[in-house]
This record gives sequence, structure tokens and C-alpha cells, in this order.
Amino acid sequence: MLKLHINGRDHTVAAEPDELLVWVINEKVGLTGTNFGCGIEMCGSCKILVDGEVIRSCKMDAGDAVGKKIMTKEGLPDDHPLVSGEDVDKSP
Ligand code: FES
Repeated sequence: MLKLHINGRDHTVAAEPDELLVWVINEKVGLTGTNFGCGIEMCGSCKILVDGEVIRSCKMDAGDAVGKKIMTKEGLPDDHPLVSGEDVDKSP
């Protein structure tokens, strides 16, 4: 079990620390705005904020997000770049 803080709420999730965060958020927490696309850090469909930093959740283990503040599209205002589609992370 992992305790994740997502969009201002604590979620206790039946997940292993080495599971990819994108899958835990999408399938186990049910926040489907975070999607698995390429899986190789290219498409950006899995972008979230972790402690205010844009992260591709397909490269982060869920265990590494414990104790951090996670924000997904569902928790952000409509005009936030992650929601509106603006590119907030210029890294390749
Ligand atoms: S799934 Fe494409 S960047 Fe993460």
C-alpha cells in the first residue's frame, strides 16, 4: 500500500513502489486525465506536477512520489498549461 497526495487529497492505493506512477494514477486512483502514451518520455500525455515540477509520470515509480504533492489535470484550473495543452516543459 502506498499513500499518495494527489490534487489536495490523500489516497491509500494498493500499489507496489516500483509500479509506474502513470498507471497508478490512471488505473488505481481513477484519474484518467493522466494517460500512458509512448512510455519513452516523448509524447507528454503522462505529464503531471510533482512538488510543482513538471514530471513525465511514465518515468517515475509510484514509490518515489510518496510524501510529495502530486497535481494532475483534474486538480488544475482549465487555463493551466498542462490542461490547456500549452507546452510547459520544453525538454525533449
Ligand atoms: S507516456 Fe509519453 S511521455 Fe510519458
